[in-house]
Amino acid sequence: MRTPIVAGNWKMHKTIAEARELVNAMKNDLAQLAATGKVEIVLCPPFVSIPQVAELVKGMPIKVGAQNMHWEAKGAFTGEVSPTMLNEICDYVIIGHSERRQYFAETDESVNQKVKAALAHHLKPIVCVGENLTQNEAGQTQVVVSAQVHAAFKNISRDDARGIVVAYEPIWAIGTGKAASGAGANSVIGLTIRGALAEMYDEGTAQTIRVQYGGSANAKNVAEFFAQPDIDGALVGGASLVAADFITICKTAVK
Ligand code: PGA
Repeated sequence: MRTPIVAGNWKMHKTIAEARELVNAMKNDLAQLAATGKVEIVLCPPFVSIPQVAELVKGMPIKVGAQNMHWEAKGAFTGEVSPTMLNEICDYVIIGHSERRQYFAETDESVNQKVKAALAHHLKPIVCVGENLTQNEAGQTQVVVSAQVHAAFKNISRDDARGIVVAYEPIWAIGTGKAASGAGANSVIGLTIRGALAEMYDEGTAQTIRVQYGGSANAKNVAEFFAQPDIDGALVGGASLVAADFITICKTAVK
């Protein structure tokens, strides 16, 4: 049984004071839900708010994640944050989000380097994959997504692979209000993503790895995703910035 994982990707939203307010508004409900063991809950605020958020949920079964990191442990990389800085206060790190790939020149190679660095420093990667609208309309979803999975997991051992979370986020669904259909996302996740993982490892490993859906997931539509056999939770952007919505999403995952 794969435990669903719901992660809130706040993106570049919320000041430190606003982050505190948001976490205080939802932490008790989230902690109760996480304590059931039926859902893992991760909050991924911007770097500057991570220490504050980690402090607020200290001792609670709520996990904290970063939205990106550099692969080197330290060095002359102005403006970057390293895995050794994050692993003191984070459990997870989102890697290869499509916005990083699109606006910050993240490549399949840098994604793979970051995944390896995260694992080496005991951070659990949430690796994002997904096709854009043009690729989707051209019927290239399978080819694109499978290649991204192969690249992200390149030279990663079977044991390490089992601890990685994949987020299937079709780019055309992110922030657009146009989520994929439950069945459509389930098919890409079940056939393409688990198929690629089975090619690289074996069927058992492919069935162990958790794969979330992301892209305009919200309090109203998540039930459709969570009901799918191959979907293990959600990576939530916009709806994770509203306490009541994020609580409802996590509640839906527990049902
Ligand atoms: P969205 O973002 O839920 O606002 O579409 C999801 C994501 O980009 O992780």
